[in-house]
Amino acid sequence: MNGTSVASTIRETMLTADPFAKVMKTRDLARRWRVGELAFTFDAAMPNAPARPEKPELLAPAAMPKRGRGSAHGRLALLHALAHIEFVAIDLALDAAGRFGAEMGREFVDDWLSVAADEAMHYALLARRLRTLGSFYGAMPAHDGLWDSARDTAHDVAARLAIVPMVLEARALDVTPKTVEKFLAAGDVRSARILQRIVDDEIRHVRFGTKHFVALCESRGESPVTAWKTLVQRHFHGTVKPPFNDSARRAAGLSREMMAGVATPQQAPHTSMHEMAGGSDQL
Ligand SMILES: [Fe+2]
Ligand SMILES: [Fe+2]
Repeated sequence: MNGTSVASTIRETMLTADPFAKVMKTRDLARRWRVGELAFTFDAAMPNAPARPEKPELLAPAAMPKRGRGSAHGRLALLHALAHIEFVAIDLALDAAGRFGAEMGREFVDDWLSVAADEAMHYALLARRLRTLGSFYGAMPAHDGLWDSARDTAHDVAARLAIVPMVLEARALDVTPKTVEKFLAAGDVRSARILQRIVDDEIRHVRFGTKHFVALCESRGESPVTAWKTLVQRHFHGTVKPPFNDSARRAAGLSREMMAGVATPQQAPHTSMHEMAGGSDQL
């Protein structure tokens, strides 16, 4: 092990704006951590926000152009939105490791740096797919606001875990299977495969979140079910609504009991299809 701290390396990676460079640095960081080349030292503060490339232009959710649903362009726009989500997810995982690693310990850093490497891979797969389809990451505007949850939960690791992996990433488990079907129906098997691979990995990410959250609550003498409910009410401004992908959520440690605590009360048994994959509320 040399003297380079894991925190300073994470900080530098978060402050890298160029997507390709960020992907390469994230992979290198995860590898160096895994083989013991970085010191478990937290001598660098995480930035309030990561560096961003000039493109895509970031717009408020309400200002985002509508994606033509069902059209080829709509599917391309969806892949672009998902690439952006994965790009931001790299920094979310890095921030978790760098900001809370000192208090949470080595296993926490192991887990979130491996998540960061997964997110870098997810982003790279989608960016490459966009190129193959004649577009690129940055060709369309993207959602601003994905960093808001990180900012809102920077003060408390329990709040961070309760919202980012356990609500936002978990949402992908519910919506992605339908998106996979949609790409298959359109004959785009390559994109469908990429999304299937992503959702398989996301189960693991959510499971890491749940595992550390439950352990943390137990160490604080709190009930995970109650603590999650309270934190979601305080820090999450969207809705947590069924239908849930029960089997994927169960695999990720989110039992029916956990879900019953946070689910937004429903008027009707089914929500509309309007809010679909790639929207603002999944990672
Ligand atoms: Fe991802
Ligand atoms: Fe993820």
